[in-house]
Amino acid sequence: MFNLTRKDFIRVLGGFFAAIWAAFATYPFFRYLMSGAEKKAGEDSQVTSLSLGKADDFIPGSSKNFKFGSIPALMVRTEDGVFHAYNAICTHLGCTVQFSSEKKHIFCACHGGQFDAASGKNLAGPPPKPLAVLKAEVISGELIISRA
Ligand code: FES
Repeated sequence: MFNLTRKDFIRVLGGFFAAIWAAFATYPFFRYLMSGAEKKAGEDSQVTSLSLGKADDFIPGSSKNFKFGSIPALMVRTEDGVFHAYNAICTHLGCTVQFSSEKKHIFCACHGGQFDAASGKNLAGPPPKPLAVLKAEVISGELIISRA
């Protein structure tokens, strides 16, 4: 059926490996070209503010993880009734942080990072700096989150 000579077989094999090499060599270039399109799509989805609904729906000591455009974000209503909002990307290696209503602080499950719920300041663990702050305000009974 296949009547390949040794020379033909080596040529086919060489062509196969050349195709694989070309795919690996050009992948970064195509990835670079595609990143521009992805970035543009991300910019289109950027928001400047959004509503989390009625402020009264969040009792003191509660929280909500949500998306601020394409960015993971976290809202915390501390025990004193004040609303706080942060970019929920951990400043260590980028995991998403959460609020612990038991321990009353924001934590990162990846490496044990801890942040103050009222300021976003890094308290313990490896995170080198505080969480980025978003603005949280109540307007006409609605909780509005916007860029600080
Ligand atoms: S990524 Fe959050 S503590 Fe490491």
